[in-house]
Amino acid sequence: MTSVRFPTGFVWGTATAAYQVEGAVAEDGRGPSIWDTFCRVPGAIAGGDTGDVACDHYRRWPEDVALMASLGLGAYRFSVAWPRVQPDGAGPANQKGLDHYRRLVDGLLERGIVPYLTLYHWDLPQALEDRGGWPARDTAYRFADYAAIVRDALGDVVDHWATLNEPKVASHAGYGEGIHAPGIRDRALRDRAAHHLLLAHGLGLSVLSGSGEVGVTLDLSPVVPYGGSRADAEAYDYDNHGMFLEPILRGESRLPDDLVHAGDLDLISAPIDYLGVNYYRPLYVPRVPPELPVTAVGWPVVPSGLRDLLVGLRDTYPDLPPVYITENGAAYDDEVGPDGWVDDPLRVAYLHAHLLALHEAIEAGVDVRGYFLWTLLDNFEWAEGYSKRFGIVHVDHADQTRRPKTSAHWYGQVARTGAVPQPGPELTWKTESDE
Ligand code: FCB
Repeated sequence: MTSVRFPTGFVWGTATAAYQVEGAVAEDGRGPSIWDTFCRVPGAIAGGDTGDVACDHYRRWPEDVALMASLGLGAYRFSVAWPRVQPDGAGPANQKGLDHYRRLVDGLLERGIVPYLTLYHWDLPQALEDRGGWPARDTAYRFADYAAIVRDALGDVVDHWATLNEPKVASHAGYGEGIHAPGIRDRALRDRAAHHLLLAHGLGLSVLSGSGEVGVTLDLSPVVPYGGSRADAEAYDYDNHGMFLEPILRGESRLPDDLVHAGDLDLISAPIDYLGVNYYRPLYVPRVPPELPVTAVGWPVVPSGLRDLLVGLRDTYPDLPPVYITENGAAYDDEVGPDGWVDDPLRVAYLHAHLLALHEAIEAGVDVRGYFLWTLLDNFEWAEGYSKRFGIVHVDHADQTRRPKTSAHWYGQVARTGAVPQPGPELTWKTESDE
């Protein structure tokens, strides 16, 4: 069978986020985060689930690192929980929290797995929310202090850093739509949160300067009009993507001057070593074409969207830095078979088709350095709780048993060989480029 080969040195990993996997929310002096609080709001999370236990990764990380190594994965993108490091969001470091990440990073390095550390994946210390949260400018300065603590503690062993994961989701879902923590619905506060997250990124870049490869992860999608006007789609694209891409890559903001202070954009547009791209699906405005296949969270499966996104980014931003795909993956209703095996052919097909589309983008000249599959373990999927399974490793949430799915073995082979088989008779997936 022929296969497509990725460039030498291409990085293959998986990604997780602290609140989604760690559990141990009161361990070793961790303070509460906005997600601990939000999970207590009746009706906020499917099934009333919380991240209290999650995948118990805080304690079981040695087993999980061993699993990654057995699959042949070369990198692990994880996030540090700010409330473990600064339980109140300010002041001196909680050494026990830092020690945990030190052990994790050492464990990864011992197994030859390269750590990619994200400083903020949505778990703001509740104490900072009580002082105004991201709509308050001061939160960005608190983030810079936190970044400096983590840099001082781990800078000798971590070479790959991201300031933020998906600031748009933090601002828009958290402060605009209220479907994520802290559950606020206010357009003006949303925009303030968005700018202060960007400012935190900019301040974080200064703090991390000289610490290795430093970037930021955005959730990006091609925006496609379907049943609506191009102008509406463009407005939606700005609101979801341009609001973040333009300040970071061009030093431009359309937000008002009383919010964007002099000098902010210089910080925010300081050069990044890479842009992290999370891609799951195109966004159709105002509605999704009914004929498209969808995953268990209802997201349409359109692999060519990944190629189109990357080629479009490069064309729109000629100075686009190198890219890592920092998340891509799919939720399906996986079940443990009678023999204990978890077969997930739809996820394999999704990954397979997306990797071929990614390869097309590389062939088209986009500088992509690596791919992080979302996600290693079935975990706490935010407002969906444990009801949605994105993992390549099945987790029994009753007893924490890990069962690598078919997709884990398939992806391990990709990671070990750096090659993706062309679709064969047993694995066909129609992409737009096949037509
Ligand atoms: C992204 C998040 C990640 C996970 C996936 C499915 O928006 O960064 O934590 O929830 O979606």
